[in-house]
Amino acid sequence: MARRKRRQSESESGAQDLSNKTVKRKLEEKSTTTEKLADNDVTHDAIIPSPPPNVEVRRATFVVENASLRKGIVRKRWKILDSEEDADALKQKKDENNYRPGVVYQALRAIFDSKLNKAGMVGAVYVKTDNGVLFEIKPHVRIPRTCRRFCGVMLELLDKKCIRTKDTNEILMRVIAEPVTRHLPVNSRVVGLSYSSEKVVDIDDYVNSAGDELNLVFVVGELAHGKINEYTNDFISVSNYPLSAKGCIGLICESLEHKWKVF
Ligand SMILES: C[S@@+](CC[C@H](N)C(=O)[O-])C[C@H]1O[C@@H](n2cnc3c(N)ncnc32)[C@H](O)[C@@H]1O
Repeated sequence: MARRKRRQSESESGAQDLSNKTVKRKLEEKSTTTEKLADNDVTHDAIIPSPPPNVEVRRATFVVENASLRKGIVRKRWKILDSEEDADALKQKKDENNYRPGVVYQALRAIFDSKLNKAGMVGAVYVKTDNGVLFEIKPHVRIPRTCRRFCGVMLELLDKKCIRTKDTNEILMRVIAEPVTRHLPVNSRVVGLSYSSEKVVDIDDYVNSAGDELNLVFVVGELAHGKINEYTNDFISVSNYPLSAKGCIGLICESLEHKWKVF
């Protein structure tokens, strides 16, 4: 009798294993399909990768503040200005070195290419430009593989206010109303990140100590002066050294991947 029960339980756990393997294989197939998509488009997985059954979904939100995405005319064409490419056109401007779309591009790649996002554990991504435009990018969007193409998409977004898929008309990116706080999930803990914060934390310990009932929102990028306390519940530094936005997001994603067992 005991042996029959054990055999039954072994066969049930085998079935569970098999179903986990099937889910894993399906997820792998989905991600391979996405990798094959053309490089020059904003593309997306038709379906957000779902975590295995019975795993409660936890998600983090990211806000990238002060993104340098400013339009201008160079050689009679509108484009996103870049200090490196457009040095001649920007010569007259006082802040000629501040046009750096590559910083937000790299930051977004760090979020969108992370294991955390591939596991469906990034809930939303918001970007606020340094001239006050707020937009949302759906987490299943595939960010273009080069900064130049990314800038092309950003130009289209700033012009049309919305980017949709060609086939299903689903919204992938859209300009939204301020303030960002009205779009954040309920029960959010908004964490501002800055090298200038006196509260230096070990980011692994920090995310581990946050209760799972809280929705973690990480704000990276220079916060507009004086706005920090209006908007964030905590303000931390994750290193004794100034990091790039991309490096900082990489640390956050890795810590959450460990916490939520994304391998
Ligand atoms: C705005 S970018 C600065 C641009 C940078 N030169 C680059 O290439 O990415 C860096 C952002 O990463 C975050 N950051 C950098 N170092 C940090 C640190 N030690 N602790 C917490 N956040 C940090 C801040 O949010 C900061 O605004």
